[in-house]
Formats: sequence, C-alpha cells, structure tokens
Amino acid sequence: MKKKKLKILILHGPNLNLLGGRETGIYGKTTLKEIDALLKKKGKEIGAEVSSFQSNSEGALVEKIQKAAKKFDGIVINPAAYTHTSVALRDAIGAVSIPVVEVHLSNIYQREDFRHHSFVAPVARGQICGFGINSYLLGLTAVVELAMA
Ligand code: DQA
Repeated sequence: MKKKKLKILILHGPNLNLLGGRETGIYGKTTLKEIDALLKKKGKEIGAEVSSFQSNSEGALVEKIQKAAKKFDGIVINPAAYTHTSVALRDAIGAVSIPVVEVHLSNIYQREDFRHHSFVAPVARGQICGFGINSYLLGLTAVVELAMA
C-alpha cells in the first residue's frame, strides 16, 4: 500500500523575511528563501509536502493556523517576536488538533530575559531552539514523526 504524503505547513513570524541581512551574528546569513528551499528538499526525502508562509501580521498567522487544521497534517512555527507576546497565537495553536512544533534559530534562553518566556510553548508539542537553520530541519523531522504516529 502506498504511504500517504503528509502535508506540513511552515509558518514564519515577523521580521523573518529579513533573514540573511538581519542581525547576522545571531541569525546567520541564510535567507528565508534558502531556508524554505532546504525544508522542501528535506520534506521530499522524508515523504512530506512542505508549504511555507511568512507574515509580519499576527492576524494573518492566526488565520493560517485556523485554516491549516483542515489542510495540513502538522505545523512547524517560528513565531519570532510573537512568541513572547501573543496570546492570540497561543490560543489559535491550542485550538487545532494537528501537531505543532515551535522552533527558533537562536537559543532564546541565552538571550534577554524577555525572550525566556514563550506563550506558544505550553500548547506546542515541543520546542527546538538554538541550532540555527537546523532548528527548522529538526522541527520538520519531529512534526512528521508526530503526524505519522
Ligand atoms: C527568534 C527569536 C525571537 O526572540 C526573535 O524575536 C525572533 C527570532 C529566533 O528564531 O531565534 O525574531 O524566533
């Protein structure tokens, strides 16, 4: 029997469109386009169709999460600054039944105090941070395994 191809949504929060030129000492020089291409490639290798979406708007991210529940088998999200501020994102994630994995390029616990708290972490299945672009790739592997379970 042919295995069903899983559909995974990658969500990138505010300012991540600037990756490649933004605080490169912290976030590295890889652009968002390059990260998305790597995720698509990794997805192919592990049997998942990967779609990506970036927005600077909290509402747009909330709407994507709400709609994703019907279309996707899992979500990898880097909520960026909304990690530390957004009850709306937390509630949207809490409302969907598909697995959600939170990722961050930087290790948020080694940074300013205000980055130590994540509103998303309690409703995500897990959090991966501090591995640069590899955080996304590890997040994709994790969500695919959760979606298959
Ligand atoms: C980030 C960490 C957040 O604190 C920050 O606001 C970001 C990026 C990361 O990927 O390391 O924009 O989510």
